Amino acid sequence: MLKGKHIVLGITGSIAAYKACLIIRGLIKQGAEVQVVITPAGKEFITPITLSALTSKPVISEFFAQRDGTWHSHVDLGLWADAMLIAPATASTIGKMANGIADNMLITTYLSMKAPVFIAPAMDLDMYAHPSTQRNLETLKSYGNHIIEPGTGFLASHLEGKGRMEEPENIIKILDDYFK
Ligand SMILES: Cc1cc2nc3c(=O)[nH]c(=O)nc-3n(C[C@H](O)[C@H](O)[C@H](O)COP(=O)(O)O)c2cc1C
Repeated sequence: MLKGKHIVLGITGSIAAYKACLIIRGLIKQGAEVQVVITPAGKEFITPITLSALTSKPVISEFFAQRDGTWHSHVDLGLWADAMLIAPATASTIGKMANGIADNMLITTYLSMKAPVFIAPAMDLDMYAHPSTQRNLETLKSYGNHIIEPGTGFLASHLEGKGRMEEPENIIKILDDYFK
């Protein structure tokens, strides 16, 4: 059911950003078109060249990167998408989304989105358990967004607990089931 679907994939500055490559591969394998919007911090974790090679599209990131007066339209992206997926979603991005802090392309795209939005948090167990993170997730849920619960297990910090981003194949299945 993902065939022909337009997916905006938001990537943020989490150690789980490399898993976004597997999500892209899985979505494209099922016939979806993927447009990546990545935060400046996200690019510290994974390079735009990898993402654009996988999606066959330039990634979108900065508001003001071009010096020739052209810009990327977050409004057009909001109309193009059949779904937006933010995976991985950091505590910071979740907080900005919940509070409308539109200081990067990912958040402006989210605020302009007409399509359903899926959010896959990824962070350390204490960041995930923090009342501010939980409150922000509740707020996002109350706005009608779909939260893809993180799993419990071994984390990049070498600690164990809840905060691992859901596995790429399960995230793809959730999107696929939604369109079914
Ligand atoms: C090695 C490393 C790993 C990080 N992993 C995470 C993470 O998994 N989740 C998270 O919420 N923040 C993580 N951070 C912190 C974010 O990168 C930081 O809050 C950043 O400002 C997020 O920006 P963004 O949400 O705009 O991408 C990590 C930082 C470092 C240095």
